[in-house]
Amino acid sequence: MSPEQFNGAVLAWYDQHGRKDLPWQQGITPYRVWVSEIMLQQTQVSTVLGYFDRFMAALPTVKDLAEAAEDEVLHLWTGLGYYTRARNLQKTAQIIMREHGGEFPRSVDALSELPGIGRSTAGAIASLSMGLRAPILDGNVKRVLARYVAQEGYPGEPKVARQLWDVAERLTPHERVNHYTQAMMDLGATLCTRSKPTCLLCPVRSGCQAHLLGLEIRYPVAKPR
Ligand code: ADE
Repeated sequence: MSPEQFNGAVLAWYDQHGRKDLPWQQGITPYRVWVSEIMLQQTQVSTVLGYFDRFMAALPTVKDLAEAAEDEVLHLWTGLGYYTRARNLQKTAQIIMREHGGEFPRSVDALSELPGIGRSTAGAIASLSMGLRAPILDGNVKRVLARYVAQEGYPGEPKVARQLWDVAERLTPHERVNHYTQAMMDLGATLCTRSKPTCLLCPVRSGCQAHLLGLEIRYPVAKPR
């Protein structure tokens, strides 16, 4: 499968099966996408659903978040855990107000410099909310791509991670990158699961090297011990 065949199949699958009803997919702004991505970093969608709208109602703009009492931010976060995320969220809001004139920087490199925003979260914000052609490689997408290319080596190894980022970059489309990003996350969460993936329903199974080998479960390769 060429990259165009791959992302074309993923986009057609998104049109039929992708999630389009999540609260952070409505009224899309960099602020809303950023807050949702930070919440979703270590917390399931079903849990985040109970927090996102309340957070947005209390702190509707990056300025509100920057100026809020730390107590209020932590209170809104209570139950989500990993409170460093909440502190970094407010730090980043303050940097955006102070150093970026209240606007999110419009590049992956600049986004990645903000506290709590790694390369994949930066790619998600850039693609989902700005339409920039930026790849992502979160846990779910890493699994999809490691299987698709039957990537050897543990992805915790920098060399292997670099190869997977190259794959992610090559396969990202030039159009509809927002839908593509959402589709890749959804594929990893719903079909290309860690155990018992539903390959029969996968739009890219005909090009999936792990599937062709019958070795889906071997990829991504586990941490050597
Ligand atoms: N996990 C991380 N980002 C997500 C998103 N935008 N939708 C669903 N699950 C996600």
